[in-house]
Amino acid sequence: METLLITEEQAADLLSMEEVIEAVERALEGKATGDVMMPPKILIRFDQYNGDLAAMISYLGYSNMAGAKIGSVHGDNPRKFDLPVVVAAIVLVDPATGEPIAFMSGTDITSYRTGAAGGVAAKYLANEDSEVVGMVGTGEQATTQLLALSELFDGLNVKAYDLSEEQVTRFISKMDDRIDGSIEPVDSIQDAVAGSDIVVTTTPSKSPVISDEWVDDGTHINAIGADSVGKRELDPELLKRATIIVDDREQSAAVGETAFPINEGMLSPDDVHAELGDVVAGQEAGRTKSEEITVFDATGLALEDVAAAAVVYEKAKERGIGQTFSLVS
Ligand SMILES: NC(=O)c1ccc[n+]([C@@H]2O[C@H](COP(=O)([O-])OP(=O)(O)OC[C@H]3O[C@@H](n4cnc5c(N)ncnc54)[C@H](O)[C@@H]3O)[C@@H](O)[C@H]2O)c1
Repeated sequence: METLLITEEQAADLLSMEEVIEAVERALEGKATGDVMMPPKILIRFDQYNGDLAAMISYLGYSNMAGAKIGSVHGDNPRKFDLPVVVAAIVLVDPATGEPIAFMSGTDITSYRTGAAGGVAAKYLANEDSEVVGMVGTGEQATTQLLALSELFDGLNVKAYDLSEEQVTRFISKMDDRIDGSIEPVDSIQDAVAGSDIVVTTTPSKSPVISDEWVDDGTHINAIGADSVGKRELDPELLKRATIIVDDREQSAAVGETAFPINEGMLSPDDVHAELGDVVAGQEAGRTKSEEITVFDATGLALEDVAAAAVVYEKAKERGIGQTFSLVS
């Protein structure tokens, strides 16, 4: 069997947020219905490089597709090396033989599948008439979070805040023409959060950046930044007030937004209402009242990577994109 090599540029050209949302939603549903196999990700930490490396594998039974990602998060990459914070590579595997059918850049795929997971969460958990979005952090993940929201909600009124003003300016010029709506910079996190229907946090913070008292009833929060040990963005009091939905109970309790409050005894694992897949599959309720606060704690799932990578692989094959090589003979 030949293996298809797909470069970063080719993967970026093939990615469509609409298609990735559909694929990620299907995979999340499969997790709930027992049609997906996925152990939690495993991580090693490189303190000396302010980075970590994760290995993530999964099998999507409904499409008979398996795969693995190695993904690293190195916070100093943009400043020191002009590289993205998240760097990743994905291998898709034929489950029947174990042969690698594709090897591809996973950096943009990670960003799209993370955006798509945020989109699916907002589709099921935010109030349907949501318009005002507060973005806290305007780096790479913020772009795909907003792209996904724009696929699902009309006429967005976006408030953007980042510690770096330059990042906000770059974000607005990159995203202004790509979304249905408008984006304005704001002066503080509180300004981004207060009065927003949906709040998206994508910072690598290790202490809360959002205070409970800034958040209005009815808000949905996509908490994206906390995806490895020690990171967190939300006031534990806010988590206590909210209906918490996680992407994976075990992974979130180990490395997600809920890890710290659960370890410190401020929250119990039973305070987590459901996994997002359970809500997508109709096994658990999502939002039940317009004034409810909902929080989606996203840690990033291997099933999302394989689902999004499979979209890229199928399109590459259809269009004759990529280069084949032989790894196993
Ligand atoms: N949950 C997931 O599935 C998932 C997937 C990918 C990345 N991540 C995580 O998301 C975070 C962001 O990743 P990225 O690729 O967008 O990084 P990035 O460096 O491109 O963007 C992060 C932005 O946050 C800003 N920032 C930092 N601290 C802030 C603060 N206190 N207030 C406001 N802004 C602040 C930075 O200036 C930067 O612009 C990281 O922690 C990463 O590990 C999570």
